[in-house]
Amino acid sequence: MKIGLAGAGRIGARHAAALCQLPEVTALHIADADPGRARALASRLPRETRVVALDAVGDLFSSGLDGLVVAAATDAHAHLVEQAIAARIAVFCEKPLASDLDGTFQTVAAAAAADVPVQVGFQRRFDSGNAAAREALASGRLGWLHTVRSCSFDPAPPPAEYVPTSGGLFRDCVIHDLDLIRFVTGREVVRVMASGSNRGDDFFRECGDIDTGSALLVLDDGAIGLVSATRYNAAGYDSRLELFGSKDSIVTGMDDRTPVTALPERAGPEPVPGTGRDGEPRSAYGGFMERFADAYDAELRAFIDVVAGRRANPCPPEEALEAFYLAEACELSLREGRVVGTDEVRR
Ligand SMILES: NC(=O)c1ccc[n+]([C@@H]2O[C@H](COP(=O)([O-])OP(=O)(O)OC[C@H]3O[C@@H](n4cnc5c(N)ncnc54)[C@H](O)[C@@H]3O)[C@@H](O)[C@H]2O)c1
Repeated sequence: MKIGLAGAGRIGARHAAALCQLPEVTALHIADADPGRARALASRLPRETRVVALDAVGDLFSSGLDGLVVAAATDAHAHLVEQAIAARIAVFCEKPLASDLDGTFQTVAAAAAADVPVQVGFQRRFDSGNAAAREALASGRLGWLHTVRSCSFDPAPPPAEYVPTSGGLFRDCVIHDLDLIRFVTGREVVRVMASGSNRGDDFFRECGDIDTGSALLVLDDGAIGLVSATRYNAAGYDSRLELFGSKDSIVTGMDDRTPVTALPERAGPEPVPGTGRDGEPRSAYGGFMERFADAYDAELRAFIDVVAGRRANPCPPEEALEAFYLAEACELSLREGRVVGTDEVRR
């Protein structure tokens, strides 16, 4: 298969390396708004896959691609996806599908009208713990769910230049938690109350963003959801999903690399924080790349299966739209300081 990659930044480089590991990918064509970035990435990739750095992003759409991975900056997603759809190229697009509701809506409509697969990059759906949590809840093992909590705590902020085009903390980061809660519970959110703060670097405030935010969600069966995110969790990257039910409670993302210290600290044979059961030192997850390494690989394998027509799209654009509605409702709640019904942002 000939696969294209638009965007050779942080996540684009990760996806390129993963694509080169897939035997079905025989050629990878990379383009970036900055052609030097595409060339630099191509030069770092293994030679077994035929890697080509293109001079112009537009060349992607005339190079006979079987599939395109969009990992460009968020504000470029909608246009790139629409160009791929027009060229009838199956797309994997990093979340969010677009930087605003209009763009998301138009992209969903374009994909539906053309019947071209567009898979959105909510990799947490492919995390083995999250998939097991979904099954556990569906099996009835937890009884009825009273509370679900999901967090996304980054150890350090992204580069300052990433922030202005990111869409803001709820659309950029919390959107993962919002999608995951829908995916795992199978329920819809009916209203949200969000809040946020700026206690870190000024560049968040300067572009109207927050560095820490939370939202309380009311699900359509009455369960309560809580999502929280920060750009400043120096202890390490922490993405956990906790489900509390009338019969049992479970957590995903909790292992000997989870960056929390239980007090009082225990001495003796029990592992201490930062130490594995075998006694070897383990560091906390350094970031989402490490925490979700297996999930990123799995979602790209799934995309190759979608391109080959071997499986149904595991994360279609309509799902991304639902998550975007929730992020939009959180943003509105944050700005206006009130409870927002999700019907207010739906179209
Ligand atoms: N699923 C995840 O966990 C996850 C993690 C990180 C980033 N992301 C998403 O991936 C996207 C990229 O994030 P990043 O951290 O790699 O950003 P980045 O800033 O490191 O890289 C973005 C790249 O896109 C390029 N670019 C901008 N406009 C372009 C265009 N029109 N065509 C081609 N290239 C273009 C830039 O030159 C840059 O090289 C964002 O939308 C982000 O939300 C998702």
